[in-house]
Amino acid sequence: MNQSERLHYLKETTGLSAQDIAILQDSSSVFSFDNANTMIENAIGVFALPLGIATNFVINGKEYLVPMAIEEPSIIAAASKAAKIAKSKGGFIAQAYESIMIGQVQLVSLPISEECAKRNILSNKKEILELASSKSRFAVVKDLKVRQVQDKSQHNKGVMLLVELIVDVKDAMGANIVNTMCESTAPIVEQLSGGKAILKIISNYATKRLVKCKAIFDKDEIGGQDVVERILYAYAFAYSDVYRAVTHNKGIMNGIDAVALATGQDFRAIEAGAHAYAARDGTYRSMTNWYKTEEGDLAGEIELPMAIGIVGGVASVHPMAKIALKILGVKTAKELAIILAAAGLAQNLAAIRALASEGIQKGHMRLHARNIAVAAGAIGNQIEIVANKIADERSVNVDRAKEILSLLNNDNYNNKI
Ligand code: MEV
Repeated sequence: MNQSERLHYLKETTGLSAQDIAILQDSSSVFSFDNANTMIENAIGVFALPLGIATNFVINGKEYLVPMAIEEPSIIAAASKAAKIAKSKGGFIAQAYESIMIGQVQLVSLPISEECAKRNILSNKKEILELASSKSRFAVVKDLKVRQVQDKSQHNKGVMLLVELIVDVKDAMGANIVNTMCESTAPIVEQLSGGKAILKIISNYATKRLVKCKAIFDKDEIGGQDVVERILYAYAFAYSDVYRAVTHNKGIMNGIDAVALATGQDFRAIEAGAHAYAARDGTYRSMTNWYKTEEGDLAGEIELPMAIGIVGGVASVHPMAKIALKILGVKTAKELAIILAAAGLAQNLAAIRALASEGIQKGHMRLHARNIAVAAGAIGNQIEIVANKIADERSVNVDRAKEILSLLNNDNYNNKI
C-alpha cells in the first residue's frame, strides 16, 4: 500500500476522522514550533520520527493496529511477523494489574529514634492520606508505608526514613499528581518526625503496576524443532550473561519504546523501571522467559512494570499521540499497558528467532539499504532501485550507492549494471 491507501485503510478500520487523516497526511507540519516552544526550553525546532503501523496483533482476543514511532528499519516488519505467528495460536494473552504508583518522601536528621518517628507518622496516617488525596480529583492515596534505609554510599549519612505514598493513579501516568502529593505531605511528616524532608518524588520502579503477557508460537511457523531448540539457547544466554541480557532486552525495548513514543508516553520512565525489574533477583537478566510447551511449540512470557497514562501529559496534547491512541482504540491505561507488553514480547521473538537461525543482517541490511540510498542522494523511485542493487550485491555502503546513482542519472543504468 502507498501512504494514501494505508490512511484509507485506517479510516475504514479505526475511529479516525477525516481531520485525523489530514493530519497524518501532512504530519510534518502538525507540530508547530509554537507547540515545541511551550513544551520545552530553548526550543530551536521540531525533531520528526517515522510513524508506522505493526499489524496482526491479537491481544486477549481483540485485534489491534499498533502505531510505532521508530527510526530503525525492520522493527515494524519484525513485530508484525511475530504477531502473525502468535495469532495462529490465539494471539497474546495479557493482564495489567493495579494502577498503583509509589511516591517517596525522604526524611533525614531525625532528633528522635526511627521507631518513634515511624510510630508518630503511622498514628496520623488517616489525616496524611486525606490531605494527599485532596490534591487530586481522580487519584486516590490507598496507603502509607514507612521504611528505614541505611546509607550505603561513601558519605555514611546513617539511616534515612522513607515515607511512601501508595497512590492509585487510574488512567494517568501519575508523575505530576504523585509529586504534588509528596510535596504537600512533606511538611506534616517533617513535623511528626522532627526530621528534614529532602526529596519528595515519585518512584519510577512501578512494582505495583505490573503487566504480564504470554504467547505461544507454533514450532513449524518459526522454522521447526531445531529453531525452537536454538531459541532456547538464545534465552539461556540472555538469562545467564549480562552482556547478552542487555542486548536481548534492548530488542524488547525496541518494541515497547516505539509504541510508547507513538502514544506520547515517558519512555525513559518505562525503561528505568523495566531494567531495574530485570535485575530484581540481584543479577540483570532477560526480561522475557522462553520455554517449550508439551506439544513442542515455543512459549514466551514477559512481566515488567508499566507506568503509562492515557489522560494528562503528552498523551492528551500531542496531536500525533492522540491519533495513535485513537488508532489503538484503547479505553484505559491498562489496555495500553498490555499492548506495550505484547509489542515487547513480539519484538523479542522476532529478534531471537532471526539471530538463532539466519542471523539478522540479511533482512536488516536490505531495509537499511534504503537509508543508504537516500544518504547517497537517491530520490523517488531511485531509492528502491539503488537499495535493491546494493543489497543484492551485498555492498550496502554510500560509495557504491553513489556510483549506481550516477549511472542511473546518466541514463545508462540498463547498459552498465
Ligand atoms: C537491534 O536493534 C536489536 C537486537 O540486537 C536485539 C537482540 O540482539 O536480541 C537484534
